[in-house]
This record gives sequence, structure tokens and C-alpha cells, in this order.
Amino acid sequence: MADTKAKIAVLVSGGGTNLQAIIDAQKSGIIKSGEIALVISNNPGAYALERAKKESIETLVISKRDYENAGLFEDALIAALEERKIDLIVLAGFMVILSEKFTGRFRNRIINVHPSLIPSFCGEGFYGLRVHEAALAKGVKVTGATVHFVNEIPDGGEIIMQKAVNVEEGDTPEILQKRVMEQAEWIILPASVEKISAQITEEEK
Ligand code: GAR
Repeated sequence: MADTKAKIAVLVSGGGTNLQAIIDAQKSGIIKSGEIALVISNNPGAYALERAKKESIETLVISKRDYENAGLFEDALIAALEERKIDLIVLAGFMVILSEKFTGRFRNRIINVHPSLIPSFCGEGFYGLRVHEAALAKGVKVTGATVHFVNEIPDGGEIIMQKAVNVEEGDTPEILQKRVMEQAEWIILPASVEKISAQITEEEK
């Protein structure tokens, strides 16, 4: 690595509050071993793109709709990441399941934040608000968030960090989602980004 910092790409699909937490952590010095070099959204309308532009971070829209099949869509993602020599890929509310072709290319270099304590409420079909709906339907009293490495099994890679959050009487999926973000995701995602960036820069010295 020519640079001393890991080059980070953040992949997003929606509001981008987790992206914002990473940006803020970079500014405050919580993240010091890595730097966001690129934000990619599969959704052209994602507000996350505005957050990146505000910080003069390069943005790309790579949408499945513009490709004949999922393989070609992943080829475009891989090309964009390799061209820029990205060291660490952070899935921050990226609502696309990636195949082994993609995950195998960047083994131990992709991390994801998931809004539950894995192995509860995870895997295919569990994303966004649905995760919190399922947690409330089950009646769990404690939920939380997990940051993990991404492999070919949805939400199945090695766990990096977890943080528990209490479910409160009268919670709606929206209220619970907000609490899990504030008390867990926005803390453990930047902390994990720093941890893995530091490991990458150490390895490449
Ligand atoms: C977050 O809660 C994230 O954990 C979740 O989507 C939300 C995105 O919010 N991701 C998943 O469910 C992935 N399986 P954001 O765009 O404001 O960061």
C-alpha cells in the first residue's frame, strides 16, 4: 500500500445514516487508519449519495437495472473497486446479496452491519425494518446489531463486533430501528472500520 491509510469504499442503498457515522468518525479521529475514497449506490435516489457529495467523496451509481444479469452487475462493481485499489469494502445498508464471485474476490476485505444480534433474525429476507418487525413479533427483550465479515452465506461471515440494545414496552419497528442505530450500529460500525483498517495497514507494511 503506497498510502499509509486503507482505502475504503462504502456501498449503500438508502438513507446512509451509517455512512454518516463513518464520515463523522473519520472527522473526529475515531477512524484514523482508513479513509473513505468512494461511495457506491445501487439506487440512484439514495440520500446517502448526497451525504457523500457534501464531503466531496467520489460517488458512483451502479444499478442492477442497467445490467442484463447479476453477474454483469457484480463485474461492474468489481471493476470500479479494483480500478481504485480499494482495500476495504463496507456494506452500510447495501440491500443487495453478493455472490461468491464477488465475496471470493475480496475475502476478509468486506464487512457488513446488520441490525440484529446474529444468528437471530438474519439471512435472506431479513433486512431493514423487517428485522425489527421480526424481533418484535418474536417478543425478544434484547436485540442489537452485528458487524461481520461478508462471505457467500448471507450474514454468515465471522463476527467482528456486536452490541446489545433493550426492547422497550410499546416499541414499534421504527422506534426500535432508531434505538438500534443510535445505541449500536453507529458505534460498532465505525469502530469495526477502524479495527479492520488498522489490521490491513499493519499487514501491508
Ligand atoms: C441499517 O439499519 C442497516 O443495519 C440495515 O439497513 C439500515 C440502513 O440504514 N442493513 C440491513 O438490513 C442489511 N441486511 P442507513 O442507510 O441509514 O445506514
